[in-house]
Amino acid sequence: MTLFITFEGPDGSGKTTQIQLLAEALTRRGQAALLTREPGGTRIGNAIRTVLHDRAHVEMSLRAEALLYNAARAQLVDEVIRPALAAGTVVLCDRFADSTLAYQGFGYGRNLAELRMLIDYATGGLTPNLTVFLDIDPAEGLRRKRGDADAEWNRMEDKALAFHRAAHAGYLQLAAQEVERWLVVDATQPVASIHASIWQSVSPRLRISESTAPTSQSR
Ligand code: TMP
Repeated sequence: MTLFITFEGPDGSGKTTQIQLLAEALTRRGQAALLTREPGGTRIGNAIRTVLHDRAHVEMSLRAEALLYNAARAQLVDEVIRPALAAGTVVLCDRFADSTLAYQGFGYGRNLAELRMLIDYATGGLTPNLTVFLDIDPAEGLRRKRGDADAEWNRMEDKALAFHRAAHAGYLQLAAQEVERWLVVDATQPVASIHASIWQSVSPRLRISESTAPTSQSR
């Protein structure tokens, strides 16, 4: 029994914290879990990430941007995600194809059908079993991220708030279209409560007893 779980949400929504808590909870229960992220997770993907997120690259065309995110994705799927799933490891990915639909699609108001074709080519049709959406107002997310001295501030975060708001609204539309796959969690709750909601959704899918849910943990 394995699962491919993705985490989505505005910048500063706490994805990294929650994905780490879930990885630790799974590992403690003897379930092998691999944590990765997009864009990145491979040597080639990290090189593409540098190009994508360089704040000097203001001239990047929208098609080039979509292709680069998907090139990094193809490498990650082939090199890391598919082999791990085949070995029975649960894969947790910080952002995946829905980020392309939200940002390159809804964010810029571009054609979703074209992007879906591109995503299908990049992933070879691999889709997550569960997508956790950490829901926060994008302005609040960006404010939180600005307050975090260790956080990377990238070219995408430089974009206007209207872009981030359109991407956020797009996420909610995507979640409403596929309620079975998406878990929408209020990301303004305490860290431990968010983790408990995620655990409640993940554990039955892995047939792990919910009664062992870590409820008092906070970080
Ligand atoms: P992060 O690694 O801090 O989450 O930053 C990734 C940024 O890249 C974030 O602003 C969202 C953006 N992004 C896209 O626009 N399209 C994509 O397909 C992916 C994976 C990320």
